[in-house]
Amino acid sequence: MTAHALDALLDSMTLEEQVALLTGADFWSTVPIPRLGVPAVKVSDGPNGARGGIFKDGPSTACFPAGIALAATWNPALIQQTGAALGEETKIKGARVLLAPTVNLQRTTLNGRNFECHSEDPWLSSEMAVAYVRGVQGTGVAATIKHFVGNESEYQRMSMSSDIPERALRELYLLPFERAVKEAGVWAVMTAYNRIDGTFAADHRRLVNDVLREEWGFDGLVMTDWFASHDTVQGVLAGTDLEMPGTTRERGQKLVDAVNDGRLPAQAVRDCARRVLLLMQRVGSFADPVIPAERADDVPAHRQLIRTLGAEGAVLLKNNQNTLPLAADTSRRVAVIGLPAVVPQIMGGGSATVNAHYRVAPLDALRSQWPNATFTHHAGASIHRWVPVLRTPMQLEFFNSADLSGPVVCTQTVDNTEQIWAGHVPEGVQPGTFSVRATLRFVATQAGAHQFSLISAGLSRASINGTPVIDAWSTWSRGETYFTFGCEEVIHTRQLQAGEVCNITLEYSSAAFEEVNFRALRFGAGRVLDASDIAAAVEAARTADVAVVFAGLNAEWDNEGLDRVSMTLPHHQNTLIAQVAAANPRTVVVLQTGSPVTTPWLDNVPAVLQAWYPGQECGNAIADVLLGAAEPGGRLPQTWPLRLEDTVAFGDPAQYPGVDGHVRYGEDVFIGYRHYQQKQLAVQFPFGHGLSYTSFDYGPVRGVPASFGPGDTITLEVDVRNTGKRAGQTVVQLYVSDAEASVARPARELKAFAKLHLEAGASGTAKLTLPMRAFAFYDVEKKRWTAEAGSFGLHLGTTADDAFANHSVVLTGDWHG
Ligand code: BGC
Repeated sequence: MTAHALDALLDSMTLEEQVALLTGADFWSTVPIPRLGVPAVKVSDGPNGARGGIFKDGPSTACFPAGIALAATWNPALIQQTGAALGEETKIKGARVLLAPTVNLQRTTLNGRNFECHSEDPWLSSEMAVAYVRGVQGTGVAATIKHFVGNESEYQRMSMSSDIPERALRELYLLPFERAVKEAGVWAVMTAYNRIDGTFAADHRRLVNDVLREEWGFDGLVMTDWFASHDTVQGVLAGTDLEMPGTTRERGQKLVDAVNDGRLPAQAVRDCARRVLLLMQRVGSFADPVIPAERADDVPAHRQLIRTLGAEGAVLLKNNQNTLPLAADTSRRVAVIGLPAVVPQIMGGGSATVNAHYRVAPLDALRSQWPNATFTHHAGASIHRWVPVLRTPMQLEFFNSADLSGPVVCTQTVDNTEQIWAGHVPEGVQPGTFSVRATLRFVATQAGAHQFSLISAGLSRASINGTPVIDAWSTWSRGETYFTFGCEEVIHTRQLQAGEVCNITLEYSSAAFEEVNFRALRFGAGRVLDASDIAAAVEAARTADVAVVFAGLNAEWDNEGLDRVSMTLPHHQNTLIAQVAAANPRTVVVLQTGSPVTTPWLDNVPAVLQAWYPGQECGNAIADVLLGAAEPGGRLPQTWPLRLEDTVAFGDPAQYPGVDGHVRYGEDVFIGYRHYQQKQLAVQFPFGHGLSYTSFDYGPVRGVPASFGPGDTITLEVDVRNTGKRAGQTVVQLYVSDAEASVARPARELKAFAKLHLEAGASGTAKLTLPMRAFAFYDVEKKRWTAEAGSFGLHLGTTADDAFANHSVVLTGDWHG
C-alpha cells in the first residue's frame, strides 16, 4: 500500500474507527475494521521464544537461551541467525510482531529481569539488539525493542520514577534503542512501566516524540507495556500509538471525548492510527489478513541452533589443571549433585516464559554422551524461592460465580498445579468473574517435614484431608508475585510419614480485584530438603572419581515483577558445594543463574562453568561443553562482583530500590565495570571474562595512527593465533579511555569487539572499527555528542580489566555530532 493509499484509508475512517485502532482488541491482537478491510495483527512475547496467545501450557514452542546467555555469545552473526529463527517461530504462532528484544541495562545485580537483559554495557547490548532485530525483521516479522526506557529494576515497577541524569540516559540507557532504530530500522518500540523523571514512559513526549521520533527518525509504532497507560491525552500527544492490551483503560470513548472536547487535536489520533496501519502493512497483514491457528511445529534446525547457542554462551569461569573437559572415553564414577541436573533450568520467569517443546536434563545428556561412566544423583539442596509446583494431575471444576455457587460450568484435568488465566479462560467460563474447585492427591515418598503453599492472583484457600490449612482468601492482599497481581506465598508445614496420603482441595475466586484480567492459582508441595540430603550427596562425592554439582537460581528468582533479595545462592547450596569439594577435590560446579551470585567456595573448586538458562537443549549444551564436544564460547556480559556491598547504589535506598516513588541513578555513567574501575574495587570475575579450552597469542596491533582528525574512523587489526591443541574461540575486546576530559569519564569503555573461531595452530585477524562516537561523551548543555581534542587510550584485551596491548592516539581537534 502506498503512502497515498494509507492516507486515503485514514480519510475514509470515522474518528471512532481511528480510535479503535489505538487499543488492543484483547491481550495479544489489534482491532480489525472489516468494513474497510483493516486486518487484526497478533503479537507474541518474546524474547527467548514465541509463546503465542496462551500464557501457560499453550501449544508448545522452541525455547531459546535467555537474553544474558545470548549476549554471552558475543557473536552478532549468530544472534542475527537466532533473530531469524525467532521470526519463523513467531509465524508458527500466527503472530507478526515479536515483543523483543529486552535491552534495559544491568544496572543493579538484583534486578529481577537481569537474566532477560543483554548486558551491563551499552555497546555489547546494542550490538546484540541490532543483530537480533535484523534477524527477526528479515523474516517480515516486526521486532519490538523494549522497555523504553529506564526499566532497570522491578521494585514498584508500575509506578517508580527512574531519575536518570541526561548523560547516563544518552550514553548508556538509550544507546541500544538508538542503534536499533538507526542501524536495524526496528519497526516497533514498547514503552516501559516506570516513569522517567516523574513522567510515565508512555506519556513521555520528550523521549517518545522528540528523541525517538524526531531526533532519531523512528517512523514505526510505539506501544505501551501491558496495562501501562495512564493518561488519555498525554499518551497520544507523546506519540504512543497503541495501548496494550485491550480492552481499553484510557482510550476508546474517553479518547473520542477528548477530541470532541477540544483537549486533543484529531490530527494526533490520526498520526497514531497511521502508524498502526503502517505496521500492519510492513508485516504483510493487508496482503494476508488471516491470523492462522497456532501450531506446535518443532523445527529441527532450531533445535540445533539452540544447542549451538547454549555452548557458545556458556562461560568457563575457572578451570585449574585443565579439569575440564572431562574425558568422555574413560570409565569413571561420576557423582552428579543438585536439583538442576534433573529438573532442567531452561529459562527465567515472567513474560519471557514459554511452553518449551521439551527440556533436556543435564543428567540424561551426560548419561547418553558418556556411556562408559556410572552415575549417581543426589539433590542435596533446594534451589526454589517458592514451594515447588507439582507435576501431578489436578481436577478442576469451574463456576460462573465468585463463591463457588451455582452449577459447574466446565471441568478440566490438568497435569500440574499452576494455572494461569490471562485473557483466556476455558470454554463456558465467564472471563470476568469465576471460581474454581481443584482436587489432587499428594503422597509422601519419604518421611520428614513437608511444605504446602498457595500463591494466587485472586483469592485462594486449601484444605488437606478435609481440614482447612492455607488461607490466602480472607487475608489476601496484592504482593510481588505474578507481575505484582498475585499475593505473597502462604505456607503450611507438617510432618509426614513415607506413604502418607494427602487429599487436597483448593478453592479459588477471581474476586480479589477486577482491575486487570490476569488471574492465577499456584499450589506447591514438597519435602523440605535438610542436612541428611547434603550428607548423602557428600558421601556419593567421596566415593566418586569426579563430582559435578549443578547449582544456581531458577525462574522464581530470575523473574519479572520482583527483584532478588541477595546475591547468595539460596538455601544450603553454598554449604553443599563446600562440603562436596572437601570430600572430592575433583569437583566441577555448573552454575545456572541469570545474574551474578557470590561464590565463597571458589578457591576450593578447580572448575566452574556458568551455563545460564540455555533453553530447551539445556542438558545437551552443558554436556557438550563439560565433555569437550564443544568449546565454552561465552564471555561475561556482566561483571561478577565479590560481594553485594560493592555493587552500584548499594546502601543508598534512594539509589536502589528507590524512596518515595523515585529511584535516583546517582552513579551517573558509572555502572558495571565502569563503576568497579572508578571505585577501584576488585571483582570476582571481570566483564568480558571467559576461559577457553585452548590458548591464544595476540600479535601486534596494526592501524594505530599517531593522530586522527575530527570525523575520521580508526580501524585496527590484530592477528591472533591458536597456540593450543584444539579448536577454540576468543573475543578480542577494544576499550577506549579519554586521557583528559572536561567531564568525568569512565576509565575504559567497550567500543568494539571481534570473536574469532580458530582451529588448532591456525591464525586469524580481528578487525575493530572505531567511528567518532566511540570517543565522544554527551554534552548536556549543548545537547550534542562531543569528542574533545587530545589524547585517547586504546586498550585491547580479553576482559575489561586486562590488556595485551595499550596504545594512545591524539585527536587533533574537537568533534561534534
Ligand atoms: C512485560 C513485557 C511483556 C508484556 C506482555 C509485561 O509484563 O513487561 O515485557 O511483553 O508483559 O506479556
